[in-house]
Amino acid sequence: MLARVYSCTCIGLTGTIVEVEVDTSSGLPRVVIVGLPDAAVEESGERVRSAVKNAGFFYPRGRVTVNLAPATVRKEGPSFDLPIALGVLVATEQVPQDTLAGCMVLGELSLDGIVRHVRGVLPMAADARTAGFKRIYVPQIDAAEAALIPDLEVIPVTDLNQLVGHLTGRITIQPAPALHVTDEEIMVLTDLCEIKGQEYVKRSLEVAAAGGHNVLMIGPPGSGKTLLARALPAIMPRMTLEEALDVTRIYSVADQLPADVPLIRNRPFRSPHHTTSHAGLVGGGNWPHPGEISLAHRGVLFLDELPEFGPRVLEVLRQPMEDKVVTISRAHGSFTFPANFQLVGAMNPCPCGYYGDPQKACTCAMGLISKYQKRISGPLLDRIDIHVQVNRVEYDKLSDDRLGEPSSAVRERVEAARQRQRERFGVKGGVDLTITCNADMRPADVRHYCILDDTGRNLMRSAMLQMQLSARAYHRILKLARTIADLAAVDAITPTHLAEALQYRPRLLLD
Ligand SMILES: Nc1ncnc2c1ncn2[C@@H]1O[C@H](COP(=O)(O)OP(=O)(O)O)[C@@H](O)[C@H]1O
Ligand SMILES: [Mg+2]
Repeated sequence: MLARVYSCTCIGLTGTIVEVEVDTSSGLPRVVIVGLPDAAVEESGERVRSAVKNAGFFYPRGRVTVNLAPATVRKEGPSFDLPIALGVLVATEQVPQDTLAGCMVLGELSLDGIVRHVRGVLPMAADARTAGFKRIYVPQIDAAEAALIPDLEVIPVTDLNQLVGHLTGRITIQPAPALHVTDEEIMVLTDLCEIKGQEYVKRSLEVAAAGGHNVLMIGPPGSGKTLLARALPAIMPRMTLEEALDVTRIYSVADQLPADVPLIRNRPFRSPHHTTSHAGLVGGGNWPHPGEISLAHRGVLFLDELPEFGPRVLEVLRQPMEDKVVTISRAHGSFTFPANFQLVGAMNPCPCGYYGDPQKACTCAMGLISKYQKRISGPLLDRIDIHVQVNRVEYDKLSDDRLGEPSSAVRERVEAARQRQRERFGVKGGVDLTITCNADMRPADVRHYCILDDTGRNLMRSAMLQMQLSARAYHRILKLARTIADLAAVDAITPTHLAEALQYRPRLLLD
C-alpha cells in the first residue's frame, strides 16, 4: 500500500510543504530515498528502521521506497524521520491512512523512537496553517513555538509509540494550549540607572533609540562602552507582536531559540567578535542560515573594537545597512534575510587606547593613530549619525550609591518620539514611501521635514563654515535635530536642538 504523509522543509525563512510517499515492495531489504535529499535525510532510512523496531512495531522485510515531493526542492536535515516512520507504518497497515488527513508531521527520531527537536518549527507551522492544514504533530519541546500560530491544533509528541497510540485511539495526547501573549515586562540587559555618570552618553543613546540612529562610541578601555551599548535595547520601543514573530522566526530557523522562550519579546543584542567569519556575520552556508546581522534584526548589532573588524568585513555591512535586508546568492537561487538592526560601534581612539584621555598619556605615534582610525571605511562612517566620546568616570561618581533614571522612564520618552515620527511619515512612510524613523530620511525628506527658521539657518551657516562640515554632515545634523525636537515633543527645530545635534558630529582625525 502506498502511504502519504505531509511534512515541511525550511528554505531561507519560509516553509515549503513536502509530501512524503512511502511504498513497500518485495525485493532486497533496503531503503531508497528519492527527491533531492541531503546526506542527513539519506541517513533517515536507518534511523527510521531502528526507531520503528525499537518502538515495538513491525518493519517490512523487503524494499522500502521513500519519495519526497516536490523533487525540485532540496530536502535538508533530519526532520523527515517522523513522517517517514509514519509512512512506513501506514504502508504496512499498522496505522490507518485517514488518521493523518489534514495533518502535518515534523520530527527527528532517535534510534529508540524518541522524537527530537527540529529547527524552524515556527515558520513551518505558519506555512502549514496557510496551506490549510488543521493539525500539526511536532516534537514536544517545540510545541510552544508552534502554538504561536493561531487556528492550528498543535499535538506535542514525545515518542513514536505514543504518537501511534494516539493515532490508533489507544491514548489521547492533549493539544498544546494556544500561547497567550501577555504584555510582560521587558527584560533589561543593563539598566541605565546602574550606570554612574555618563549623562551625556546616556542622552546620546536616548536620541539614538528615539530616531533609529547608529552610534559610534570612542573612549579608552574600561570607560564603560560595552556597558552603555548593552543598555540600548531596553530603551528602544517595545516590539509589537508582529515584530516579535519576525525575530522569533529568524531564531527558529537559525536554531538559536532557547527552549524555554517560545516567543522573543526583547529586542536582540548581538555582539559578534571581530574574528567571526563572513558567513557567521552576514549569513551563509550551502543552504544559507541567518548570520549575526539577521539575528540582530529589530535589535542592536554591537561591534566592539570596530577597527579590528577590518575593511572587508565593514564593507559587507554597507548594503544591508542601506536595504535593511541581506541577500545571499547561491547557484540554486538567492535567499533574503531581514537585517534591520541598529548599529553600535565601539573603539579606542588609538592603539594604546588613551589618545585624548585627560589623565593618562597616549604613547602612540601620530601616524599610527590616524592609520588606526582610518581602518573604518568612510562609507560606513557616513551611516553613523551619532559619534560620542566616552570618558572614564571619576571615582567619586562610581562610588555614588544613588541610582539614576531607570531605562523604563527613558523608553517612555523614546516611544512618544517614535509615535510622532509614525504620525509624520504616515503609513506610506515619508517622501519616498519607505521611511519609518528619522534616521532613514533621504535628502528629499530632510528638505521636507527639517525646516529651519532664520536663526536656525544662520547658526547652521556659521557651523558649516567654522567646522568645515560636508553636505553629508549637514543632513546628518538636521536629522538628529529632528529627533531631538521629537523627544522634546515640538514640531519646530530650534537652535537648541541644532546645538545638541552638532555635539554628535565625528571628531576622528580623519574627518
Ligand atoms: N559608568 C559606570 N558605572 C558603573 N560601572 C562602570 C561604569 N563604567 C565602567 N564600569 C565598570 O567597568 C567595567 C568595564 O566597563 P566596559 O563597559 O567593559 O568598558 P569598555 O567597554 O569601555 O572597555 C564594567 O563592567 C563596569 O563594571
Ligand atoms: Mg568593551
